[in-house]
Amino acid sequence: WKPPVTVAVTGAAGAIGYSLLFKIASGEMLGPDQPVVLSLLDLPTSMDKVQGVMMELADCAFPLLHGMGGFSDARAAFEGVDYACLVGATPRGPGMERKDLLLKNAEIFAAQGKALNAGAPGAKVVVVGNPANTNCLIGMMNAPDMPRANWTAMTRLDQTRAEGLLAAKAGVSVNAVDRVVIWGNHSATQFPDISHATVGGKWAKEAIPDEWYKSTFIPEVAQRGAAIIKARGASSAASAAQAAVFHVRDWALGSRGKWASMGVISNGSYGIGEDLVYSVPVVCYPGEYRRVGGISIDPYAAQMMEATRKELIAERDAIKHLLPK
Ligand code: NAI
Repeated sequence: WKPPVTVAVTGAAGAIGYSLLFKIASGEMLGPDQPVVLSLLDLPTSMDKVQGVMMELADCAFPLLHGMGGFSDARAAFEGVDYACLVGATPRGPGMERKDLLLKNAEIFAAQGKALNAGAPGAKVVVVGNPANTNCLIGMMNAPDMPRANWTAMTRLDQTRAEGLLAAKAGVSVNAVDRVVIWGNHSATQFPDISHATVGGKWAKEAIPDEWYKSTFIPEVAQRGAAIIKARGASSAASAAQAAVFHVRDWALGSRGKWASMGVISNGSYGIGEDLVYSVPVVCYPGEYRRVGGISIDPYAAQMMEATRKELIAERDAIKHLLPK
């Protein structure tokens, strides 16, 4: 018997929350023998919806769900949590500039960073709400008592999108694809890199035409979210929830040698500099991740990595005044 762990999910009344909460309660995220307690946070105006989601969670009679609570106050929601999935964010409204979006979300994530720092300094955090990397940076900077390594931003959906597209192109199962890397920002400047990837045991670069990689694959991965909105009339929610499950599951239980991409605080490696939440490849061991070091970077990759780095620096500059000294 294992004691329950508590998982907070923000934006619990939203589309991703509606998929993610049920996956966590079923054991998909933390393992089939790990009881969980769920802490659902959303805005005060969404409390009816949160109650409705909790009614449905109760109706599933999940054997692993040992308790839950709904909150509109971050400090109360985060008290003593082990994991925090920060999904809730302000969406881009009509006529809203990207800078306004950054600023509005910066306020939310500064407050949530402080609340986690006060109530759950040992929590492991994944930021899903966009702009995910910069929101993660703000939260981390406002949580001085928490290890910086505990703050991560989700680029796993970009990774699984890239793996799916690569497998389809090569005509193999997605299980045959390994070591695809997402570098940089979870945005259109991200760099989905197949330089180190293998497909069915062969180098992807040898199995896949370079022209397709650069002209089709990279833009398709980067624009996949927009393509889904166009086709479905709603943004990707189930796949985002699944990616959050994979991200935290690997971190909590280990990735068994497989590479996973995560936005993590930069440490100067690969010319990324410092104080940016930049997606890099990691390998996970139960409860920790380690960056994959020493990967060769060719001139094309270096140029792509620099472009996404510049965007992250611009995002950081836009919210600089909100970062504690
Ligand atoms: P949604 O609009 O359906 O739900 C968002 C929820 O967050 C709403 O219930 C809203 O009331 C709540 N919320 C807003 N501000 C909050 C705050 N300060 N505290 C707590 N809750 C708050 O959106 P959806 O589809 O669930 O997406 C959520 C976020 O995830 C968006 O920012 C979206 O852009 C992002 N996203 C990120 C992906 C990634 O790969 N990193 C992939 C897909 C979506």
